[in-house]
Formats: sequence, structure tokens, C-alpha cells
Amino acid sequence: MKIAFAGTGYINKIHARSAQNLGLELAAVVNHKVDSMAAFAKEFGIPRQYETVEALLNDGIAEAMVVSTPNYLHAPQAIAALKAGVPVMVEKPMSMNAQEAEQMCEAAERSGALLMVAHCFRFDPDVLWLKEQRQKLGKIIRTKGIGVHTHWGPAGWFTQKEFAGGGALADMGIHALDTARFLLGDPQPITVYAKIGTYYRDFDVDDTGVIIVEWDNGAISYIESG
Ligand SMILES: NC(=O)c1ccc[n+]([C@@H]2O[C@H](COP(=O)([O-])OP(=O)(O)OC[C@H]3O[C@@H](n4cnc5c(N)ncnc54)[C@H](O)[C@@H]3O)[C@@H](O)[C@H]2O)c1
Repeated sequence: MKIAFAGTGYINKIHARSAQNLGLELAAVVNHKVDSMAAFAKEFGIPRQYETVEALLNDGIAEAMVVSTPNYLHAPQAIAALKAGVPVMVEKPMSMNAQEAEQMCEAAERSGALLMVAHCFRFDPDVLWLKEQRQKLGKIIRTKGIGVHTHWGPAGWFTQKEFAGGGALADMGIHALDTARFLLGDPQPITVYAKIGTYYRDFDVDDTGVIIVEWDNGAISYIESG
């Protein structure tokens, strides 16, 4: 499979290494920052470089795309690829808001191309072990999950609402929330209480959050983000 990468930052280096380990063909990379793109292409032996996703798609060589760019680009880049029939793995948080997420799902349904969100804890050995213990545990009535950065905090676009959409909840709480939902068998929410705030840093996004979700299987999840 010929795989393309949008973004050349921290996490796409990990995805590129994983794709190499799987024996996929690392075919192309996209970034408007050409120096960063050239270094990424060199490190992973990627032959084609593009400054926009549209230019990449016009060439028609990508058979799948990994979108690991700042959050505000997730929906437009994923939708462009899906419309071109290219399956997408998009990083979390899926999008800036629910409306964008719905548009992404619609694009996937219309084209038939697969859309996956990189909720990596669904593949984490500890989480998978815990999921296996479910039978032994019996009916789960409550989960408690914490998604925080410890001993360091984010900087740059992660702390700017126009690029990130949200702060600690969108960046870290989402891992705890999705992991709880995965462990409970992917129930749907019935009611949600959520409260976010910015207390510790001069960010224009939240640095603290609490969510309580009541699921349609009767369980309740308590999530903290920071
Ligand atoms: N699943 C996880 O555990 C996990 C871990 C880290 C990051 N992430 C997510 O991955 C995404 C990227 O995070 P990161 O830590 O790699 O950030 P990063 O800042 O290190 O990388 C972002 C990359 O996107 C590039 N970029 C910016 N505008 C672009 C454009 N128009 N076209 C193409 N590339 C462009 C930047 O130059 C940079 O290379 C975020 O959504 C983040 O939440 C997920």
C-alpha cells in the first residue's frame, strides 16, 4: 500500500516508523514548511513532497493518508482525501467540533473510503488486557479516567483556540474518554455533564476539565483532563 503523510511533526514520525515496520510503501508527504518536509522525506526515504493535500491528491498516487496536522486541518484535509476515494487515518481530536466530524463521516460514507480516528489506546496492551478482564469483573457500573500531561505542558498551536479548537479536554481528556468508551463496549451517551476552565496558564484554551457521561448501558464514566 502506498501511504501518504500530512504533517511532519512529532506523531507523524511515529506513524511513519510504524508504516515502515509494517512494510508499507511510504509514497508521499505534505507540508507547507518545505524544510521540515525535506528532512522528514530524507529520514524516511519518501520520494514525493507536496505543499498541499490537494496537490498530492491530484497526482493520484496515495492509496491511504495519515493526517497528523494541527486540529483545524483535520476535517478539510481528511474530507479532501475521502472525496478522492483515499482512506484516511486522522489524528485525535477528530475535528474542531461535532459538525466537522459529521461532515467527515458523510464524506467517508459517500465515497466508501474508510475513515479511522487514531485513538491509539484501543491498541494499547494494558488497555487490551483490561478489556479481556471484563468477563471476570462482571457488570461495570463506573469508570474513572484521567488524561493529563504531567511535568510538562503543551506550547505553540496546541494552546491557540483557532488552531487547536480546545485545550486539555480535546488533547488529553479525549484519550481517557475514548478509552473508557472502548472498555465499556462503545455505548452511546445518554447525558453528559462537562465543565472546562483555564486556571493554571495563560492559554486561550482550557487547561482543566471534568466530564461525567451516563451511557446507554447504564454505566457512568468520570473523566478528568489537564
Ligand atoms: N494519538 C496520539 O497519542 C497523539 C499524540 C500526539 C499528537 N497527536 C495529534 O496529532 C496531531 C499532530 O500533533 P503533533 O504533536 O505531531 O504536532 P506537531 O506540531 O509536532 O506537528 C504538526 C505538523 O503539521 C504540519 N502542518 C501545519 N500546517 C500544515 C499544512 N497546512 N499542511 C501540512 N502540514 C502542516 C506542521 O508543520 C507539523 O509538521 C494533533 O492533532 C495531535 O493532537 C496524537
